[in-house]
Amino acid sequence: MNEPPERPPTTVYLYELAWILPSIAIPIGMLAALTVTAFGAGIHLPSHAGRVSPTQVARTAPFDNPGLTRIGPGRYEVVMTSQIWTFAPGEIRVPAGSTVTFIATSRDVVHGLFIPRARVNVMLLPGQVARVTTRFDRPGEYPMFCHEYCGIAHHTMWGKVIVEPAP
Ligand code: CUA
Repeated sequence: MNEPPERPPTTVYLYELAWILPSIAIPIGMLAALTVTAFGAGIHLPSHAGRVSPTQVARTAPFDNPGLTRIGPGRYEVVMTSQIWTFAPGEIRVPAGSTVTFIATSRDVVHGLFIPRARVNVMLLPGQVARVTTRFDRPGEYPMFCHEYCGIAHHTMWGKVIVEPAP
C-alpha cells in the first residue's frame, strides 16, 4: 500500500493576503465614498421627480406651457417636453453664471437629454418627470442631444442652450 502524499499545512500565503485584503478594503472604501457623497455632500443621480400621464402631457401643467422661467436672481427653470424628434423649447437663452433646473418628460417614446458641456445626462421616460440642475458659467453654445435611440430621425433630435455674456 502506498502512503498518501503529505499535504502542506493550510496556510494563508502572503500573496493570497495581498488579494484578500484589497478585495475587502475596496468595497468598504467605495461604500464609505458613496455614503459621504450622498449624505454628506448631497450628491444624487438625476432622478424622477414625479409622474405624468404620458398621453396627457400636453394638457398637464407645467408641461402644457413649456419654456424658460426666471425663478430668482441667476436662477432659471426650464419646463421641457421631448417628442419625436424635437425638444420644446429647442433653444434656451440664459446669462452666464445661471443655475438652471430642467424639468422634463417625454410625450411619446424614450428620449434622453444630454448636455455634455454642462454635465447633464438624464433619460426622459414617458410617464416620468426628470429634474436636473446645472450651472452655465461660460458664455457660448451648449448643444443638447437626445441620447436614447428614438426612431428613424433620432440623430436630428437636438437643441442648444445659448449662454450670453453676463450683463
Ligand atoms: Cu429622441 Cu433619440
